[in-house]
Amino acid sequence: MKQIQRVAKGKRYLISRLRRDVVPTGLIKCSQRNTCLLAAIIIAFATLNPVCAQDESTVLDRLQERQGAELGSSNKAESIQVGKAIFLDTNLSNPTGQACISCHIPQHAFADPKPQSTGAINHRVGTRNAPSLMYAALIPSFAYDDFFTPEGDEIYAYEGGLFWDGSARDLFEQVQKPFFHANEMNLDNEEQLANRLRKSNYSNDLKKLVGEAVWQDDSAVTYQAYLALVVFLRSPIFRPFDSKLDQYLAGDLESLDEKERRGMQVYINGGKCNDCHPLNAKHWDQPLLSDFGYDNLGVPSIGKPDGGLGAHTGNKDELGQFRSPSLRNVAITAPYMHNGSLKTLREVVEFYNARDTPKRRWKQTDFPETVNRDDMGNLKLNEREVDDLIAFLHCFTDRCIENMSDEEQFPVPPKDTPSVQTKSLYFPGWTQRLHRSFKQSTTQD
Ligand code: HEC
Ligand code: HEC
Repeated sequence: MKQIQRVAKGKRYLISRLRRDVVPTGLIKCSQRNTCLLAAIIIAFATLNPVCAQDESTVLDRLQERQGAELGSSNKAESIQVGKAIFLDTNLSNPTGQACISCHIPQHAFADPKPQSTGAINHRVGTRNAPSLMYAALIPSFAYDDFFTPEGDEIYAYEGGLFWDGSARDLFEQVQKPFFHANEMNLDNEEQLANRLRKSNYSNDLKKLVGEAVWQDDSAVTYQAYLALVVFLRSPIFRPFDSKLDQYLAGDLESLDEKERRGMQVYINGGKCNDCHPLNAKHWDQPLLSDFGYDNLGVPSIGKPDGGLGAHTGNKDELGQFRSPSLRNVAITAPYMHNGSLKTLREVVEFYNARDTPKRRWKQTDFPETVNRDDMGNLKLNEREVDDLIAFLHCFTDRCIENMSDEEQFPVPPKDTPSVQTKSLYFPGWTQRLHRSFKQSTTQD
């Protein structure tokens, strides 16, 4: 990787502002340094000239064409069905008995209420909390982005990527990992996975997607299985956008009561939550409540230090940094943070509010030297503001999950949830990954 200036510690606040105000990524989420540079320069001069707009649409058209070819609409419904069956299949672990759904529980917005999940082998416990899978398909790919400060300085920071530390470049890379992780489903290799898929009770449907001719080819079978999982995780179940917040943002101002509206002001102003969990839409046309940037909040240690982003980028300034999660459905995804160390939403808010005050009650953190002490830790919010803010965080829960009946296995999204086909432009980052010959890589440059 080229020697380039990394973002200095303590500039996180500036970056979150720049992300929010200056870089209009939106549709053209920059995953290439040069594209981003171009976008930033265009914005720096604030001239939306027609030549550039034309270039943009050509790129998007090409991506859409490619995606259309890869993911022919004719078998999308079948892929979703197969993806769902894999998600539920407890025969794909060693020993059997564990599936994706064992740790990603629908009633908890597909997160795990245990601070750390237990794997297929019962005594093996990981070190991280299983996050919600709601909106996970909309997390942008791992990228190293440039930003321009108002003074014209260029700074760099990582954003996006799957897993708390961004170690999977995108969802396609991510869905492959749980099968083989010793603390998760614990299979030995792809051959074992392919054999079990061929014996599954959905094998006929999978065979139709793979094709008779290559049905004995392990990599062809597992490739289709990963793809089906990705397609399933992109389906409307995982992106219903039907919370109270969405109703409010769609113009129904009465949907939030007075307390919740006061909480929104705390979220934007005194709490500064909006700087890293923004309410404005950027990566999708509704807000995802994350800027997908990385930070070390100094959360209490649970034992063995977890280097987070720094552990796989090799940069010591990034040790202890984790990706800012979407706050959608946050009221039902307790416990919190990458290691599940904070138990309730109240504790999270109190942590942001009073981490650095004499009243502090939290244990030592893993990497004190990289903790963000500029944007949080002593917010001086009073009791009422804390209460209001918590009430507002409860407005992020999707109604279709809240109202799930005991008979339902998965939430039923509203009928008008837009199809992925019409929204395919939002997925440029991983379209190229949908080809088997595309090489894996975890870093951008
Ligand atoms: C043993 C419990 C367990 C099982 C089984 C499991 N996961 Fe996970 N999952 C986790 C944990 C823990 C994390 C967070 C790990 C990390 O960040 O390092 C995670 C992270 C993820 C993420 C990333 C979300 C994000 O915000 O970055 C996705 C997507 C995911 N899992 C999908 C799946 C799928 C699909 C399956 C089945 C093939 C599965 N998981 C099986 C525990 C599990
Ligand atoms: C400077 C950026 C930043 C600011 C400001 C910020 N957050 Fe966060 N938030 C993060 C990051 C990064 C994480 C993940 C940290 C980790 O797991 O170690 C996180 C995690 C969380 C979580 C845990 C979610 C989960 O699924 O476990 C909650 C809840 C949360 N933030 C709420 C808030 C609230 C409320 C505010 C305002 C009082 C706020 N955040 C302000 C960056 C920020």
